[in-house]
Amino acid sequence: MSRETILSIKDLHLSFSSELGIARVLNGISMEVHAGQSVGVVGESGCGKSVTAYSIVKLLPRNAKITSGEIKYTTKAGRVVDMTQLPNEGKDIRSIRGSEISMVFQEAMSSLSPVHTIGNQICEAILLHQNVNKQEAREKAIRLLTAVGISKPEQRIDEYPFQLSGGMCQRIMTAIALACNPRLVIADEPTTALDVTTQAQVLRLIKEMQREFDIALILITHDLGVVAHMVEYMYVVYLGQVIEEGLVEDVFNNPCHPYTRDLMKSIPRMTGPRGTLFSIEGTVPSAYVIPDGCLFHTRCQDVVGSICCNERPQRVKIGEKHYVSCFRYMENREANDHA
Ligand SMILES: Nc1ncnc2c1ncn2[C@@H]1O[C@H](COP(=O)(O)OP(=O)(O)OP(=O)(O)O)[C@@H](O)[C@H]1O
Ligand SMILES: [Mg+2]
Repeated sequence: MSRETILSIKDLHLSFSSELGIARVLNGISMEVHAGQSVGVVGESGCGKSVTAYSIVKLLPRNAKITSGEIKYTTKAGRVVDMTQLPNEGKDIRSIRGSEISMVFQEAMSSLSPVHTIGNQICEAILLHQNVNKQEAREKAIRLLTAVGISKPEQRIDEYPFQLSGGMCQRIMTAIALACNPRLVIADEPTTALDVTTQAQVLRLIKEMQREFDIALILITHDLGVVAHMVEYMYVVYLGQVIEEGLVEDVFNNPCHPYTRDLMKSIPRMTGPRGTLFSIEGTVPSAYVIPDGCLFHTRCQDVVGSICCNERPQRVKIGEKHYVSCFRYMENREANDHA
């Protein structure tokens, strides 16, 4: 049985304005996250993964504008908040950041303050959101450091970020993200800056924490291998729109959108003959000149006709929990419509 929907993004459009013009970066992105569910968001660099995350927690730069769509978040107390309507600053958003939704960023070292001890940084998050005194906050910080696998936490708590390795800093970021018992953690490329061994350890930690504390997780990555191991459900994003989504095993076993198939083909394999690594034809169109029709048609090897260049395909159900936006599957949609 599927659990309560805690986040629902519907048809979100966002653009950036600059002296170059208007960059349409999100072009109708939609996604849902259920309580305790782990969700992956994949797509090439620049497709709008981070901008989507920043839209949820309202950390967008000033030149960004949400032009339409909604982001509904349901708090622990059951209140539904449209995040697009909330001011970027003030008590409403402060009551959500940290204690409801928290983020783990890519560069832990630069996200942590170099002039405060890690203990101060974790305690600050706890004291801001929870009704505890300094001693209790420190005790909780030590428990969190232990939970994220930091040895000698009583000693480490008084150290500064520069005294710790990149992997340890990423663990500390995870501890800060968990400090106020959030419902939803958004991890944006949390391990890209780490070596592969540390990467695997930090990912394992995030997964264990997610399960142990029953937190919903949005994991943003361009690494399909990470998605395969870490999440239940995945969204494939292209030019600020979801083009395919589904249970991870369904999308991996039966990738339907030509873009998803190309992404899968570009994963290096250890078996089979060696050859040139597959790369997707063409380049991602500029967000300043979004193509008409299907956003992928300028690079698609499977165009079905002029419809691909003129109309935007609708989301079509192709499995119990598997959807694609592609005209090759429109017959299915007609079948669905008649069902
Ligand atoms: N402040 C800004 N002003 C103008 N354009 C921006 C700004 N921030 C991001 N963009 C543009 O928005 C688009 C989406 O960026 P975003 O950072 O969400 O990509 P991403 O999918 O997270 O990529 P990556 O995998 O490289 O992290 C990019 O084309 C980027 O150039
Ligand atoms: Mg990004």
